[in-house]
Amino acid sequence: MPRSDVPWWREAVIYQVYPRSFADADGNGIGDLPGARSRLAYLRRLGVDAVWLSPFYPSPQADAGYDVSDYRDVDPLFGTLADFDGLVHDAHALEIKVIVDIVPNHTSSAHEWFQAALAAAPGSPERARYLFRDGRGAGGGEPPNDWRSNFGGPAWTHVVEAGGQPGQWYLHLFDASQPDLDWTNAAVVEEFEAILRFWLDRGVDGFRIDVAHGLAKDPEMPNLGGRFAARGPATSGHPHWDQDAVHDVYRGWRRVIDEYPGERAFVGEIWLHTTEQVARYLRPGELHTAFNFHFLLATWSADSLREAIDSSIAAMAGVGAPATWVLSNHDVVRHVSRYGDGDVALGRQRARAATLMMLALPGSAYIYQGEELGLPEVLDLPDELREDPAFRRTQGKDGRRDGCRVPLPWSGGAPPFGFGPGADTWLPQPPAWAALTAEAEEVDPSSTWSMYHAALAVRRAHPALGDGTLAWIEGTPAGVLAFRRDPGFACVLNTTANEIDVPADIEGHLLVASDPAGSATTVPANAAVWVTTPLLP
Ligand code: NOJ
Repeated sequence: MPRSDVPWWREAVIYQVYPRSFADADGNGIGDLPGARSRLAYLRRLGVDAVWLSPFYPSPQADAGYDVSDYRDVDPLFGTLADFDGLVHDAHALEIKVIVDIVPNHTSSAHEWFQAALAAAPGSPERARYLFRDGRGAGGGEPPNDWRSNFGGPAWTHVVEAGGQPGQWYLHLFDASQPDLDWTNAAVVEEFEAILRFWLDRGVDGFRIDVAHGLAKDPEMPNLGGRFAARGPATSGHPHWDQDAVHDVYRGWRRVIDEYPGERAFVGEIWLHTTEQVARYLRPGELHTAFNFHFLLATWSADSLREAIDSSIAAMAGVGAPATWVLSNHDVVRHVSRYGDGDVALGRQRARAATLMMLALPGSAYIYQGEELGLPEVLDLPDELREDPAFRRTQGKDGRRDGCRVPLPWSGGAPPFGFGPGADTWLPQPPAWAALTAEAEEVDPSSTWSMYHAALAVRRAHPALGDGTLAWIEGTPAGVLAFRRDPGFACVLNTTANEIDVPADIEGHLLVASDPAGSATTVPANAAVWVTTPLLP
């Protein structure tokens, strides 16, 4: 529901729907597009502006759909193209925009291109769409270089050639079932521009770009040689992250999207070390926005949050892009659990406070399904039920992303909590989620849902919120952040364990508090408040 005449993507609140865990219509325990469509009215009531749908394309589901075998269809697990069209139609009727995920760094190994590459000879055009290389060492039995898969283990897999002899190796920065494409190949460039058009023609409002910083590789493919951190956001000079050539891809994509009417937009998944590196993807003629992982990685500390906010706003302003804000998604531990140090109640208090502050920051914001219910991470899933491919590739040392992907609790007092008509859910839901169903929270004015609902309503109505700038109120006590937004709005976050007074120069009345005890004059421990203030002269 656009509130002003700035492009929607500069200030939208975008709700991430992870289809397999959102809502199930057919009763097989896995969410689907008809299920998501049936819950759009819920999202309208909550008050979001857009949804981002994680992948629903045909896929062997080796990485929950981030292994795409056909970019122009819907996996039968999730429905049909007609279901997708119906969802877009209904969302638009409710003034909810729809963003879909595009996965350009790799296909599934089941994709017809990769199957053709395996069947073809080294040096063939079929192999040239991927990154096949000869191995090192005697008989080429060693991988071509020392690159590592993000999911653990080597980034190369050895293939058996058509004649049965060991052959070349192919690169996969993720699972072996996710071979990387060669973006220097014009056929790859053309295919993805055609895929963008396929979905734009169906009416999507934008794309979330998976691993957007990974498509271009240093053609020399040098060894990493221990020069780069094995984990975490990529530093500059890395041979397979943030290579300059990747920007050419997005200049081409921008030309495609700009041909379409309406304000359609890209958001890049760009995990890099500095906000300046990320901002380079948002220069004029490239992408519109990028996820703000610096903010997501900030700890529960006023200094850490302030640094992330200031550096993000400054870097984005340098290229004329809006900042974005995100605290949870399908790849990270839910922020209730990240902030709670093992105490879910404390974590939920802090998560509510951080979210309330996030929704007051200038730019657009992302909500991951279930965070509006205050869901914690599920930490005790049985290993044998885990589907994250990194869990197996690291012998359980990593790959615990299933804990934030447990199907949502909608209603009732026991699993499956109205998730679908069947008895099962693809991951088990904790019985304690009976207190956290959408049904229970929507009618409870003190619930997390009600706080999100109130904040989103104020955000839509208040002229100070959304796109724009902020002004810090300096001199607040340690552990406290306070800022104004014009006209007439202030937000105060208290990360300390003690109640504080709202700074004396903020006089006004309370709009929203993350804690029922918050007021226009006091902020409880681990809480935030929004206050409307008299206009400054
Ligand atoms: C990022 C996605 O968010 C994640 O879920 C996926 O595993 C990787 N990219 C690989 O596609």
